[in-house]
Amino acid sequence: MELRAVKGMNDILPGEIERWHALESAFMSHVALYGYQEARTPMLEHTSLFARQIGETTDVVEKEMYSFTRHGDDLTVRPEGTAGLARAYVEHNIHAKEPITRWCYVGPMFRGERPAKGRYRQFYQAGCELYGDAGPFCDAEMIEMLVTFLKRIGITGVSVHINSLGSGGTRERYRDALVGYFTPIQSTLSEDSQRRLAKNPLRILDSKDPRDKEAAAGAPSILGILADDDRAHWDGLRTHLDALGVPYVVDATLVRGLDYYTRTLFELRATDSDLGAQNTLLGGGRYDNMIEGLGGPKVPAIGFAAGIERLLISTQLAGAARAPRCFVAPLGNGTVGPAAVLARDLRAAGIGTDMDGRGTSMRAMLRRADNLGARLCIIVGETELSRGVVQLKDLSRRTQQDVPLDAAVRVATDLLAASPTPSAGEGAP
Ligand code: HAM
Repeated sequence: MELRAVKGMNDILPGEIERWHALESAFMSHVALYGYQEARTPMLEHTSLFARQIGETTDVVEKEMYSFTRHGDDLTVRPEGTAGLARAYVEHNIHAKEPITRWCYVGPMFRGERPAKGRYRQFYQAGCELYGDAGPFCDAEMIEMLVTFLKRIGITGVSVHINSLGSGGTRERYRDALVGYFTPIQSTLSEDSQRRLAKNPLRILDSKDPRDKEAAAGAPSILGILADDDRAHWDGLRTHLDALGVPYVVDATLVRGLDYYTRTLFELRATDSDLGAQNTLLGGGRYDNMIEGLGGPKVPAIGFAAGIERLLISTQLAGAARAPRCFVAPLGNGTVGPAAVLARDLRAAGIGTDMDGRGTSMRAMLRRADNLGARLCIIVGETELSRGVVQLKDLSRRTQQDVPLDAAVRVATDLLAASPTPSAGEGAP
């Protein structure tokens, strides 16, 4: 076949999509318990939004974005959701309407990464963003919400990794400490890291290149140089996590791949899945400077995003199979028209109905109704129709009756309201 889906982009077809629906609705209903409401922003944003917020020297911006120019605008297909939602928060002046805002989203994101299991070029994220509260309680609450969610969808074997990147002065001092540490061993670093050393040494800690990993092993930890307010926030986070009963691992090597973070960083990783290197189910953190950086007021924020494919690989969550409740089978000359009208009336009465108008045999029709999982099959036959009746079969009770065409919807409704199997005593003389 000549035309195939773009590399790293997948079709999700019926049979599989049901699990997606189940997961997405489990996510939405879980985060609604914590007050999150859905916000939908465009798939395309101005390239400068991502370049500035995610950071010019990140892999996402340097190597992975799908960018193009159209009608004079430099546009990028969103590689993540945080920047777009923050743009919308500022654009719609949301801070003036409510002191704390909790938004959630589900949707496709695009990054030109090397495809692997759990890593795609079009992938889906489910995420939340909270604006307006700088307190470490929010960070702990968000992590607790996620631990509880993963448990709820049956993903056990999860470790919570946390770190702090500090803010303002702490970040500056840490940057200097890293430059001081890496400069003497600069020649052992990857080309990317050598280039990024002066500008953004934090990125070296996040590099996947084995040379950088080796060099970074002895790098200083930021936790040792947190300023007093950053330390108080960090201590507060841990106290709240303890109070909420959330076990965690302090991981000073956690820096994450996006530049906008301040203070709290977290990732939840699957410890017993077959995701391999892609075992980070979700990640997030605080980004207290983004709203102001976008021209808004000084509003702190925190958020996360989970990879839906990675969650689906890790959970046994089943989707609800779709089955029509009724199957309409026209058989013989001139039956398709009246059958189509009957199918229309059944649907109007709220009964999911499939119809096969190809005019094959009765046996083939019954087999098809059965395979589809339909409870009722209505045969619209030529001779029956001339008598003004149709044949209504209850496939689970194994009963059948001739029913006047104009009473078929009512009888079908009554049968569907009754249990699919006859109860004891029913049908006895
Ligand atoms: P991120 O760590 O880049 O953070 O992505 C979050 C999650 O999306 C990852 O943990 C992973 O599960 C999934 N993911 C990322 N890239 C891919 C890919 N190529 N294929 C499959 N899954 C992937 C963010 O995107 C931030 N916006 C999270 C955030 C929200 N921070 C604050 N608010």
